[in-house]
Amino acid sequence: MILFKIVLMFFIIMPVYLTGQSTKRKISVLEAKCKRTPGFELLKELNVKKCIYWSKTNKSFENAEIDCKGKGGFLVTLRTKEEHMLIALNAKNFASYVGCDEREKKGTFVWHDDMSVIQDNDYLFNPPVFDKDEQTLCCVLIALEEFDFRILPNVCTLVIPYVCEIK
Ligand SMILES: *[C@@H]1O[C@H](CO)[C@@H](O)[C@H](O)[C@H]1NC(C)=O
Repeated sequence: MILFKIVLMFFIIMPVYLTGQSTKRKISVLEAKCKRTPGFELLKELNVKKCIYWSKTNKSFENAEIDCKGKGGFLVTLRTKEEHMLIALNAKNFASYVGCDEREKKGTFVWHDDMSVIQDNDYLFNPPVFDKDEQTLCCVLIALEEFDFRILPNVCTLVIPYVCEIK
């Protein structure tokens, strides 16, 4: 009976232990990758970690996207309030492109890490700041507005700083 309990405990504890280990390993993989990628830095706040590159030049959305891809990454995604805060707190510029756009289909914003459609963009564009019929506001930037870094759709042709991310 005792042996049975020990065996049972083993099967309960092992998966928990292994899950913890793999989470730790994943984080250190990102940290290690970030350290050996020139120009990128690891940002950490709360439970969020991102490996980020702040552009030193200004580009249109399309060229910013190309540059991030060339670095093995993509324009930074801000999927949660915490990720938004992480970039806002560390922002190097008043306005920068981030990895979100609706160029393909108006009203359908996608995230650039996996091109998935944003299901709930209430958090993103709250308060709503743009006219949905406006055809030209398709590319998203994070910009200082009224003492707050907001996520705003804008034209894709602005030549401004941008933020890349690698995973
Ligand atoms: C990029 O644009 C910002 C304004 O958005 C400006 O302050 C900065 O000097 C520009 N940087 C370069 C390298 O042209």
